[in-house]
Amino acid sequence: MGRKIIVLVLFCLILYNPVVFLEEEMKEIKLPEPDLKGEMSLEETIATRRSVRSYTDKELTIDQISNLLWSAQGITGERGRRAAPSAGARYPLEIYLMKKDGLFHYNPEGHKLVLKKPGDLRPGLLEGALRQRFVAQAPVSFIICAVYERVTKRYKRRGIRYTDIEVGHAAQNIHLEAVALGLSSVPVGAFRDEAVIKLLGLPRGEEPVYIIPVGYKK
Ligand SMILES: Cc1cc2nc3c(=O)[nH]c(=O)nc-3n(C[C@H](O)[C@H](O)[C@H](O)COP(=O)(O)O)c2cc1C
Repeated sequence: MGRKIIVLVLFCLILYNPVVFLEEEMKEIKLPEPDLKGEMSLEETIATRRSVRSYTDKELTIDQISNLLWSAQGITGERGRRAAPSAGARYPLEIYLMKKDGLFHYNPEGHKLVLKKPGDLRPGLLEGALRQRFVAQAPVSFIICAVYERVTKRYKRRGIRYTDIEVGHAAQNIHLEAVALGLSSVPVGAFRDEAVIKLLGLPRGEEPVYIIPVGYKK
């Protein structure tokens, strides 16, 4: 009985401790609802999209970031169905957002960002991406990572292909959504996996597949 009371008191202290509370608050950013009424037609976004390799330093708004993440992996249907198709609805993708103030992980369920590392990690990404200078210039980069095992568990070797196809779906949504928002992007497949894994602090089994810098064209 005594021990139960101590546990209860400790639990209450943790729950109401303002420091713990503050830290939790700072680590998560609830994103605004995505705007589904863009002004550009899908055909116009396809016709306009080009790889852009020179960016201004103008920051993206939280609304733009919300729409871009939603287009890649946002929940759009019942039972957690997402914006991009997924073989067997296994959802192997994890999306990270790198910007001046830190590295964030996207959580589709809560449509929120969770801070993984504070500070500007873009110089590290520049190095990892073989010094392609627009990687450090763009205000944000999306890094699409994959946990292949979620798909290979069911589909064996073919699961690797399915996962890579899915990365392409999510990536193309980001490229086209960027255009729809008046932004530009560039696909980056040339990077050193190990350097990016280390920079992002990825857990074992999670691999970076695609980097997409996004910003305003210079
Ligand atoms: C899988 C993939 C990887 C790519 N990797 C890079 C890259 O590392 N750096 C780069 O500058 N462009 C990269 N590109 C962009 C291509 O060079 C570009 O799409 C191509 O030149 C056609 O131009 P467009 O995208 O403007 O139509 C990549 C494209 C794809 C599809």
